[in-house]
Amino acid sequence: MRRIISSTAAALVMAAVIPSVAMANAPFPKGDGNIGNGQKIFTEGKGSVPACNSCHGPEGLGDDNMGTPRIAGQFYNFLLKQLEDFAADKRMDKTMFVMNANAKGLSEQDRKDVATYLASLRKKGDVKVSDLEALKAAGQTVGLTHKGKSLVEWGGNEKGIPACKACHGYNGVGAPPIFPMIGQQRYTYLVNQLKNWRDGSRANDPKAAMREVAKKMSDEDIHNAAAYLATASFYSLGNAHTPYDPH
Ligand code: HEC
Ligand code: HEC
Repeated sequence: MRRIISSTAAALVMAAVIPSVAMANAPFPKGDGNIGNGQKIFTEGKGSVPACNSCHGPEGLGDDNMGTPRIAGQFYNFLLKQLEDFAADKRMDKTMFVMNANAKGLSEQDRKDVATYLASLRKKGDVKVSDLEALKAAGQTVGLTHKGKSLVEWGGNEKGIPACKACHGYNGVGAPPIFPMIGQQRYTYLVNQLKNWRDGSRANDPKAAMREVAKKMSDEDIHNAAAYLATASFYSLGNAHTPYDPH
């Protein structure tokens, strides 16, 4: 019963957000920018824009201490949308106050090129990003993965939190072109963004989809969901491929 109610609720939310949700097995969008120029921007920067790897890590996997996200292997459409939103001040970087200037410092073509390069870094296999034990040892509040799993898969019935899976796919693997990969994303970054959606300081989500979800989440829900998503596998027994694995 519990399962039926929460997946029905999620289906309704989804239908309200994007009427033609038929993205279950949409191919991985790679982009058609210039990978070479994108890689150069990532490693050397351009003009006043510093090298992306100086904050997002040598492999683009983000950094919990800085609060930067993993950007390697994310879908092209989503990466480009975020860069466009930063450039237009539709999304504000409240963590380091740098991404708006960085996005503005690149041309439209540069943004396409760097997004194409980053999407090209998607590989088959799980990627370890955050070390939850290390974060705990450093004094950060870290949620409970088993509680997060239940939220991601079934949602929080009593509070009407829809299952993250309904939009973001199995363990947050993503569902292009609209729903980003949120699994194997940095713990600190996930927590920050969920709080930003909740207080409305990030508001670049189509049809307020994420603000509606986050509004219903307590701090505890946020920590639990982020702990699970940061560390969950994209694979399961009998499921050795994601639809987005490069062949
Ligand atoms: C000085 C540090 C710094 C540099 C250099 C930097 N970033 Fe960022 N970036 C950040 C931070 C911090 C965030 C998270 C902002 C927030 O919390 O909303 C971010 C967020 C992003 C996001 C959003 C990702 C998502 O999942 O929504 C993208 C895309 C991105 N950066 C791309 C780039 C690219 C491309 C470059 C190089 C041209 C770059 N960044 C250089 C600090 C940096
Ligand atoms: C109704 C569909 C829907 C549901 C359900 C949903 N999301 Fe989202 N989520 C979105 C959309 C759409 C975006 C992309 C917003 C944008 O374009 O910036 C997003 C973005 C995000 C981001 C930002 C990712 C990034 O890299 O910047 C996080 C974090 C996130 N969702 C977490 C969750 C969690 C956790 C749940 C479950 C509790 C959840 N979402 C449920 C639609 C949904």
